[in-house]
Amino acid sequence: MTVWNSCLLLFWMSGISTSKHHYHARVTIGNQGMSRVTFPNADAGLMKFVSKNGSQIIWMARNNMLYSINVKQEDKPKPLGYKISLLTEGSDENPLFYCGHVNEKTRCCNLNSSYMPSDCFPFSDYKLEIDQPSLLVGEMLFFALSKKGLYKKNVKNPNDNIWPQSPQADLKYLKLVPGRGQHKDKFYSFAQKYNNKGEYEEWVPLVYQSCTNDRGGNKNLLENSWTSMISARMECGKDFTKLIDVSSVETDHDTKIYALFRNYWNMSAVCVYNMTEISDTFTSSDFNSINVSVNPRPGTCAKDSTQLSNELLKVMKKCPEIKKPVKPEKRPLVFRHRRYTHLQVDQVQNSIILLLALESGGVDKVLKNPLEEPVSTIAEYQPLPQGSNITGLFLHTSEKRLFVSSQSELVQMNLTQCEVYGDKCTQCLLSKDPYCQWNGTHCSAATRIQVQDSDVCGELVSVLELSKATIKEGTVHCHYNMHNTNLSSADSPVASHSRTVTFIPASSKHFLLCPMMSKYASYHWIHKNEQKECVFSDQSCMFLIDSMNETYEGFYSCESKEGKYQSSIVQYELRMSRNSGVSLVLIPYFSLSLTALHFLL
Ligand SMILES: *[C@@H]1O[C@H](CO)[C@@H](O)[C@H](O)[C@H]1NC(C)=O
Ligand SMILES: *[C@@H]1O[C@H](CO)[C@@H](O)[C@H](O)[C@H]1NC(C)=O
Ligand SMILES: *[C@@H]1O[C@H](CO)[C@@H](O)[C@H](O)[C@H]1NC(C)=O
Ligand SMILES: *[C@@H]1O[C@H](CO)[C@@H](O)[C@H](O)[C@H]1NC(C)=O
Ligand SMILES: *[C@@H]1O[C@H](CO)[C@@H](O)[C@H](O)[C@H]1NC(C)=O
Ligand SMILES: *[C@@H]1O[C@H](CO)[C@@H](O)[C@H](O)[C@H]1NC(C)=O
Ligand SMILES: *[C@@H]1O[C@H](CO)[C@@H](O)[C@H](O)[C@H]1NC(C)=O
Ligand SMILES: *[C@@H]1O[C@H](CO)[C@@H](O)[C@H](O)[C@H]1NC(C)=O
Ligand SMILES: *[C@@H]1O[C@H](CO)[C@@H](O)[C@H](O)[C@H]1NC(C)=O
Ligand SMILES: *[C@@H]1O[C@H](CO)[C@@H](O)[C@H](O)[C@H]1NC(C)=O
Repeated sequence: MTVWNSCLLLFWMSGISTSKHHYHARVTIGNQGMSRVTFPNADAGLMKFVSKNGSQIIWMARNNMLYSINVKQEDKPKPLGYKISLLTEGSDENPLFYCGHVNEKTRCCNLNSSYMPSDCFPFSDYKLEIDQPSLLVGEMLFFALSKKGLYKKNVKNPNDNIWPQSPQADLKYLKLVPGRGQHKDKFYSFAQKYNNKGEYEEWVPLVYQSCTNDRGGNKNLLENSWTSMISARMECGKDFTKLIDVSSVETDHDTKIYALFRNYWNMSAVCVYNMTEISDTFTSSDFNSINVSVNPRPGTCAKDSTQLSNELLKVMKKCPEIKKPVKPEKRPLVFRHRRYTHLQVDQVQNSIILLLALESGGVDKVLKNPLEEPVSTIAEYQPLPQGSNITGLFLHTSEKRLFVSSQSELVQMNLTQCEVYGDKCTQCLLSKDPYCQWNGTHCSAATRIQVQDSDVCGELVSVLELSKATIKEGTVHCHYNMHNTNLSSADSPVASHSRTVTFIPASSKHFLLCPMMSKYASYHWIHKNEQKECVFSDQSCMFLIDSMNETYEGFYSCESKEGKYQSSIVQYELRMSRNSGVSLVLIPYFSLSLTALHFLL
């Protein structure tokens, strides 16, 4: 007969609702599940990552050096030794398109599917900047240059080029996103405009729509300049106007744009837009300051833009902006006390995971669940030392690996290392992490794509309800027969004979420790059916005994309550030693009390 001691995990339903907004992350995960590489020369700024959807290889530019990382093999980055100045996803079968300096000359190449440079051509027209966004759509390369603007180069036709008609010194391009589906003939550029109006600074977040086949105007007007570019302001709440980062996610029918904003008071907000809505706004709204009677409508993609009428080109020369701002799908997700610098997004079924880098070297994992408002910060990681600047953040979505870089380090985080949430079913469930799942014995990487429902652990409830009373007596440990109770998968069996009895000499001081993993839970001690409040210390709930006497003898349980779950985190049994020779005897009771000891050390 298999005997289960299920006293160790007791929890029951208590109808408390969960949707309380928390400022703190639920759990703090130091640097577990991370591997790091330190670079010898610590002077590099930005780290640029590129990986084609579905590919195991991540390309990384640092200090103009190109590296590759094979995610599956947990490779250290392999230096490929190029003086790289542009890096972007390749088109068609090619994993990568890049430009680099060889003997003072710039050359651009495709990296073909056998990882060989091909279709290389010299490119000396401009001094490319690796930290500026770029995009390859078919044969068209789009790239930005700081303080100058947006350029196009046809990689197959040296005469098909577009450059800005005048330098855009006040504009910073952040991200270029290709159109998909019905928007395939266009691409979108997200940029931040900065005006210094003497007294105060003004930030305007903008999105530009341009046609990929734009070839410029005619000899007289807009020759080799954009003839299809129109712009719109982006709206995100009332005062979030400083666009910090943009991340796009392709869904079945659309492309979602996640934009990270900041306001004057250093609060952060994330707004979500979709490409269909952006495109619809561009085609339906009036224009500012110009009367649109021209046909076709400004911004329409022409077969051959050099044939456009002078009337239209005159309108396009003014860089028309539409009146209506582009609106987010929903209210912004606002983070009051966080100054985020980078954003990466993943979609797991209906849940959205936002990974947000902080200025302090930390990363927050934020869950946006369609059924729950508002968002919750499910975990906070500290991949880099306090105060280091995060220079790059990249999520490899299929392997669930997050790459975080600073000037001198590259940290790889395994986001499916679910054991960090604890070894109990409820802990796994309460983590709400869509990457994790209770597999019967452990909190482990989600394999089946399914939303965890609370019934996973629910089978235990009724049984433990029964066991509650017994535990509080502090004498008998309840035993359950697996065959009677159908506990088949919910929790790991614990041998019934292991127990901790701590003997404490009369009049001596002692304390009991209970780790507080979740900042969203409340903790207290139960002793002799009475609830005792915690004495808080760092990340634990303590019970202090000033002077041991008989009153303090008995069974102690540290209980946590979070949402509808209540569970016992650690148990201790205290006895007063009558024999003054024995001061402290500890017998391991079960693994969690060892965790508690670990905290003591
Ligand atoms: C990206 O890759 C995933 C898995 O390989 C696939 O399901 C998805 O459709 C791909 N997306 C695009 C836009 O190719
Ligand atoms: C890749 O390029 C190399 C050299 O340019 C060529 O030999 C090879 O056949 C190409 N591979 C593919 C798959 O096109
Ligand atoms: C915002 O943060 C920056 C850098 O941490 C600081 O210099 C600035 O004073 C802050 N602004 C406000 C309004 O708190
Ligand atoms: C736009 O056209 C309307 C009539 O078609 C006219 O009343 C208005 O003044 C025009 N506005 C501008 C800015 O030209
Ligand atoms: C795009 O956004 C609009 C409004 O913001 C919304 O009505 C529409 O349902 C969204 N489309 C998709 C595919 O989510
Ligand atoms: C972080 O970046 C800022 C400005 O980019 C710089 O002044 C500071 O020295 C950097 N901090 C570290 C630890 O490198
Ligand atoms: C991430 O961690 C999980 C759990 O420890 C492990 O199963 C998985 O193989 C790891 N993934 C990678 C890419 O190392
Ligand atoms: C559950 O996950 C753990 C650790 O990830 C693994 O060792 C164990 O074999 C898994 N159990 C089942 C039933 O898959
Ligand atoms: C245990 O639960 C499963 C599924 O919930 C059920 O099919 C089975 O009959 C149960 N066994 C017992 C002994 O209650
Ligand atoms: C044990 O000590 C506590 C507090 O110091 C005191 O309230 C209690 O009465 C004592 N019990 C006995 C049996 O002396």
